[in-house]
Amino acid sequence: MSQRKPVTLPRLREMHASGEKIAMLTCYDATCAHLLDHAGVEVLLVGDSLGMVLQGHASTVPVSIEDMVYHTAAVARGNRTAWIVADMPFGSYQESAESALRQAVRLIQAGAQMVKLEGGGWTTPIVRFLVERGIPVCAHLGFTPQTVHALGGYRVQGRDEGAAQRLRAHAAELAAAGAELLVLEMVPATLARELTAAVSIPVIGIGAGVGCSGQVLVLHDMLGVTRGDAPRFVRNFLQDSTSVEAAVRSYVAEVKAGRFPDDALHGF
Ligand code: KIV
Repeated sequence: MSQRKPVTLPRLREMHASGEKIAMLTCYDATCAHLLDHAGVEVLLVGDSLGMVLQGHASTVPVSIEDMVYHTAAVARGNRTAWIVADMPFGSYQESAESALRQAVRLIQAGAQMVKLEGGGWTTPIVRFLVERGIPVCAHLGFTPQTVHALGGYRVQGRDEGAAQRLRAHAAELAAAGAELLVLEMVPATLARELTAAVSIPVIGIGAGVGCSGQVLVLHDMLGVTRGDAPRFVRNFLQDSTSVEAAVRSYVAEVKAGRFPDDALHGF
């Protein structure tokens, strides 16, 4: 794995076209970036989940752009070949496309290769604005943690036909606007499979079933060090491994083989 060429957008498109599953994990520091890159993870997500995992907040809402720049720079220093996606934190893209661009530029200059932002509909012009200015974008639909209060808690999204239709429409619009990846969180597995087949870009699932183009988990969750109860869609890969690196390699192998997630155990 250490001989791997840098993962690029063309490489991610190629994997999608050939049906090779994409393995993504969250990563917040240089040491883990080195380990995950070496263990074959293709995409490192500097997720704003760091607000909960590292900072102890109850949600991702308090995370600032300064926090994200700091952790993105650390991950970039430890990484060699993985593709780095950094979350745009709550409040950094809601105001206008111009201010979203200013914040996205900070993340790209810190070492991200792509930025991720949550939501559909109103985000489409912002995604187009960033993409037209040379910033690769990952969209995020389904359960969107930054709007946990508006969504009424940590709930599965797209269960009724109206909500499923909105998800399908938002995914198609975001892909047409130039988003190159789509994270789909806590969505019924049958809907996620259908949406993955319909949309032109790779769909990376988290609590969205095995029918997606790839998977992402919070690193600490898949190592079994979640504070409190882990969500249903998490599997502890460390419990049957002899080291953290072996656990990460096992995650990559299980994702690529389509053995993780198991919809009967981890799906909705
Ligand atoms: O911040 C994060 O870790 C995320 C994942 C849950 C996809 O957005």
